[in-house]
Amino acid sequence: MNLIKKLLAAQAAVLALWAVGAQAATDEAIAERLKPVGKVCIAGQECEGVGAVAAAAGGGARSADDIIAKHCNACHGSGVLGAPKVGDTAAWKARADAKGGIDGILATAISGINAMPPKGTCGDCSDDELKGAIAKMSGL
Ligand code: HEC
Repeated sequence: MNLIKKLLAAQAAVLALWAVGAQAATDEAIAERLKPVGKVCIAGQECEGVGAVAAAAGGGARSADDIIAKHCNACHGSGVLGAPKVGDTAAWKARADAKGGIDGILATAISGINAMPPKGTCGDCSDDELKGAIAKMSGL
C-alpha cells in the first residue's frame, strides 16, 4: 500500500469511529452539548443560579445610604467647602427653593457647581440614585 492509500484508510477508520460515537450519543448528551453557554437574566427578577439580579448596573443595588457614605459624605458630612450638611434641612431647603425644588438642585448636582464635582464624584450614579441621596441628605 502506498502512503496515500494508507492515509485514506486511516481517515476512513476515523470517520467510522466518529459515526459510531455519534449514534451512541443520547438526546440528553446532545442537548447538553448544544445548550447555550450564557443565560439572559432580567434585572429585578429571580435568575437561575444567580438569585435576584441587581437592578443597578455595576454590581449590587445601591441604597441612598450607600451612595451617600461612598460619595457624598466626604464633603456633605461635615460641610467642607461650604457644602450643605447632611441633616441641615434648612440649608438644603434654601437652595432647593432658589432653584425650583429638589429637581433644580439635582440638576446642579449632576453638572457640578463650584467645589461640588459633577455627580458628586458618583460618575455611574443614575439621576434617580442622586435624587435619592439628595432627598436623604436634605430631609426634603
Ligand atoms: C468634593 C466635595 C463634594 C462631594 C464629594 C459632594 N458634594 Fe455636593 N456640594 C459640595 C459643595 C462644596 C456644594 C456647594 C456648592 C456651592 O454652592 O458653591 C455642594 C452642593 C450640593 C448640592 C446643592 C446644589 C445647588 O444647586 O445648590 C447638591 C444637591 C449636592 N451637592 C449633592 C451631592 C450629592 C448627591 C453628592 C454625592 C453623590 C455630593 N453632592 C458630593 C461638595 C461636594
